[in-house]
Amino acid sequence: MRTLKDLPELSGKRVIVRCDLNVPLNGSTITDDGRVRASVPTLEYLIERGAKVIVISHLGRPEGAPDPQYSLAPVAKRLGELLGKDVAFVGETVGEQATEAVSALNNGEVLVLENLRFNPGETAKDDAGRNAFAQALASLGDVFVSDGFGVVHRKQASVYDLPKLLPSVAGLLIETELKVLERLTDKPEKPYVVVLGGSKVSDKLGVIDHLLPRVSKILVGGGMVFTFLAALGNKVGSSLLEKDQIETVLGYLAKAKELGVEIVLPTDIVVASKFGADADVEITAATQMESTPFGEKGLGLDIGPESAKAFAEDIRSAKTVFWNGPMGVFEIDKFANGTREVAKALTEVDGLSVVGGGDSAAAVRQLGFEDNQFGHISTGGGASLEYLEGKIMPGLEVLK
Ligand code: 3PG
Repeated sequence: MRTLKDLPELSGKRVIVRCDLNVPLNGSTITDDGRVRASVPTLEYLIERGAKVIVISHLGRPEGAPDPQYSLAPVAKRLGELLGKDVAFVGETVGEQATEAVSALNNGEVLVLENLRFNPGETAKDDAGRNAFAQALASLGDVFVSDGFGVVHRKQASVYDLPKLLPSVAGLLIETELKVLERLTDKPEKPYVVVLGGSKVSDKLGVIDHLLPRVSKILVGGGMVFTFLAALGNKVGSSLLEKDQIETVLGYLAKAKELGVEIVLPTDIVVASKFGADADVEITAATQMESTPFGEKGLGLDIGPESAKAFAEDIRSAKTVFWNGPMGVFEIDKFANGTREVAKALTEVDGLSVVGGGDSAAAVRQLGFEDNQFGHISTGGGASLEYLEGKIMPGLEVLK
């Protein structure tokens, strides 16, 4: 894969950088700026070399038309603060204003264009639709740098079609992410423990399937655990349950047994009377979830303290750990203990600890951990999972 070092002369060049600045927002306040911070090294590299830097990204999932709640304006402002310099912003992605704003750039200046997904061509299913938009984007630059690791699993115009139209290289963030993820797939040091959480088992099927023959243990928490518990014949009250995945889960449990890999489920659960910070809470054995006063209305919203402790011990004794998905509803303090204990244990690993992006990255920062306490916090949620599933990533393939 070609990288920034393969671009000898950058001074005065219009360099389009595809970042993933898809950050969680509360109104116009960024609640986790991890992806903006992760984009800084490549941008600084280009600024220092006198490039005219044009940053493009998506934010959220607007439906191919402008939608103010998904404007990149607050993100451009944050980027300026992090770079310690003025960052221009233009409220369209392609068109007259965007072209003018690009022409006004001096060497070493940065411009952020509006959300790519305000244009239907970005996510178009048909090649022609994507290609027309990619052509318009390509006309704004001389060179393309792909650095939005979080979106390389998407076959979208700015990720897959644009790199075919300009000299293209991978940026520093993509290089860093790949170096770490390769260590998880290419002869990882054992014991190798994978911790999976989050709400849906259906999002994690591919990764369980691919990792089973490669890991020592898989620890399961979060909402997906109830499909495992139900598959083993337990009642789970009103907890999240994907009935259509029960057969698949049974298949994985059998395959794990055959391979001698342990799939570790929580032994106790924090059951709530309802969803919310003012819910009543009981801790119960995972096999007795309907024994609380809430009966079948009870909702499992976190792994219990005994399980959190056991998970933490497994994590601490591993040499390689990958974690994706919170153990419970960490946004509410009553249900944050499992996620907090798992995060803390990851900071104590004597080896490589990797937090898969998305909700788990947001969780560790919200719970007060610092990025440098972990081996690596990936900026890719879906992307890091798909990488570990061994899938072809369109945004990486096209750079080869
Ligand atoms: C992510 O948040 O995982 C990436 O930014 C990709 O976003 P998407 O799932 O909306 O394509």
